[in-house]
Amino acid sequence: MFAHKRSSLALSVVLIAVQMLSWTPTMSLRQGAPETVCDTMLPFHGGGIPPRDSLPPFRIETSSSVIGQGQTMRVDIVGVPPGLSFAGFVVQARNRNSPHQIIGQFNPPSDGSAKLMNCENSVGNSVTHTNPGPKQSVSLEWLSPVDFLGDVVFNATVAQAYDSFWVGIPSDPVQIVRRDTTDTYPQTTRKPYVTPPPRGPYTPQTEVPQVRATAEDPLYADCGVSKTCFGFPDGCIATKSCKAMSAITVRGDVYEFELKTGSDGAAYVALGLSEDAKMGDDLVTECVPQNGQVNLYSSYTAGAPNYAANRANVPQNKARLLESSVVDGIIYCKVQRDVVTQVQGKTFDLLNNNYHLLVASGTGLKENSVGYHDIGRLPSGSPINLAVVQDLSGSSTLLLRLHGAFMVIAWIGTTSLGIILARYFKQTWVGKQICGKDQWFVWHRACMVTTWSLTVVAFIIIFVEIGEWSGERNPHAILGTITTIICFIQPIGALFRPAPNSKNRPLFNWTHWLGGNLAHILSIVTIFFAVKLTKAELPEWMDWILVAFVVVHVIVHLIYSIFLCMQIAGCFADRQQTQNVNAFQMSDMGHHGMRNGHRMERKMDAPYAGFRKGLLAAYIICVVLFVVALVLIVVLAPIEETFNKLKNN
Ligand SMILES: *[C@@H]1O[C@H](CO)[C@@H](O)[C@H](O)[C@H]1NC(C)=O
Repeated sequence: MFAHKRSSLALSVVLIAVQMLSWTPTMSLRQGAPETVCDTMLPFHGGGIPPRDSLPPFRIETSSSVIGQGQTMRVDIVGVPPGLSFAGFVVQARNRNSPHQIIGQFNPPSDGSAKLMNCENSVGNSVTHTNPGPKQSVSLEWLSPVDFLGDVVFNATVAQAYDSFWVGIPSDPVQIVRRDTTDTYPQTTRKPYVTPPPRGPYTPQTEVPQVRATAEDPLYADCGVSKTCFGFPDGCIATKSCKAMSAITVRGDVYEFELKTGSDGAAYVALGLSEDAKMGDDLVTECVPQNGQVNLYSSYTAGAPNYAANRANVPQNKARLLESSVVDGIIYCKVQRDVVTQVQGKTFDLLNNNYHLLVASGTGLKENSVGYHDIGRLPSGSPINLAVVQDLSGSSTLLLRLHGAFMVIAWIGTTSLGIILARYFKQTWVGKQICGKDQWFVWHRACMVTTWSLTVVAFIIIFVEIGEWSGERNPHAILGTITTIICFIQPIGALFRPAPNSKNRPLFNWTHWLGGNLAHILSIVTIFFAVKLTKAELPEWMDWILVAFVVVHVIVHLIYSIFLCMQIAGCFADRQQTQNVNAFQMSDMGHHGMRNGHRMERKMDAPYAGFRKGLLAAYIICVVLFVVALVLIVVLAPIEETFNKLKNN
């Protein structure tokens, strides 16, 4: 408490001192920079005070990234965070490829907040402040020359106080194009946030990163030629439609990683280097827009069961943010990474080791970490030497698709049918036994054995594929496991069922009925949750097909149940039959008293057998159609993109 008070007192004293210092009659801050700063951009603050070399807390923002010859645009100097004030500045535009050449001309601001300087005998090509009072931003108008084509970078020196200033703060490059072509260039309003590259000697880059959200995103250019690109959904590099992507360029031992999202809504984009294509023990590069800039983080993933990407104990100085932007919600960053990074005793050697790429993006952030990759993630199929340019595809999803297809066939198909048969067809096809067994029983058993086998295989498949407990925050895995366990036990119970007239038979009937129906309901719920799994890449509208199936299934149940009720209530003429049905139903569900009816129940079909069989046929056709549709969606996932691909070919 007291310490706090004391330190804030000390801080105010320092601030007042700084304030006073900046008012001392020094030529430079008082009246703006003299023209001797034209080339070096160094203010002569008392001579010998060096510029700060920390990341500058100021940004140079331009109103557009492309401009025609002889056109004007706005150039702003703003604080990071916004509102941070500064005292003095000098700005000029420089040729990106020849940083000593000053380009273009400023218009004198009407409010007198800045004045023009004539550097290199050229009028008004630089601007400086007119008074050293605190300002939170400066807005300038710049006119591009008519005789220059190419990229310029605004270069600024900004002084917070007399002895605290940053030299050579660059803006993002602005491309000057022929006037007649500007119409085809959307005058992109420039970004809410743009981080300046870290200070230091500015090295002109050969390729121009144009961050535009059009189909001709230049990040895709030269994929597979000079850089290795990878993103999701799988195959999106070819169709230039990635939701998140990475591009790796290697020149000598310079490793550059570009990361970008494909649409608005992402809170981060990240690239993991992984030995096994699974989350855990991976070196991750994260680009995270925060507080008006894009931050770069390195993190290290923890695998099952406590999935996480932790930044603690991961060296943050092994990667540097070269460029970054957020334009229309699309995150872009370019990062240079050291060849060797040691993390918690593990060495990531980009030169000598091969890695899987793991691209991920999500909509949420946690404290000191990125959130779950709910937009998606994709590991590359095989580990690669990053320096070898190649076309990459995602790791195989065959097992995933098989799991889905098997489960759909089992739980939408054979289980539904098996349950209907056992519940409503015990008194149909009476007297036409197969190998001494009732028809309904033979078919019920066939259906359920199929369900059981498919479920067990699909369950094993998914554990082989994922290799561990699923990390997705989704009840699919837990519900599916419960369903599988019940399903697994169900036939074992049936195998040891008591004889039909044993006193334990009703108990068996109840539990068998309960187990079967419970598993069925759980399985449908589990399939609904599967639609939400990012890994499954299922379309949201698959929910409606599932709902339609549930409606059909429930309606068929209802119709058959109404028949049963009517029989039990004696609505049908034949008393004998009615009694039999009654007896049968009761004993089936464990009612005692009427076990005498048991013998008689199988003598003849329950009434309306023809109608019930017809309904069954219709139901079977429906179920088959549902199963075929759902299996196609699962196997061809992501089905919309699969169709688009087919259309384009
Ligand atoms: C900005 O000016 C400084 C001083 O002349 C120079 O060293 C640096 O390269 C310039 N930066 C850009 C982006 O032109």
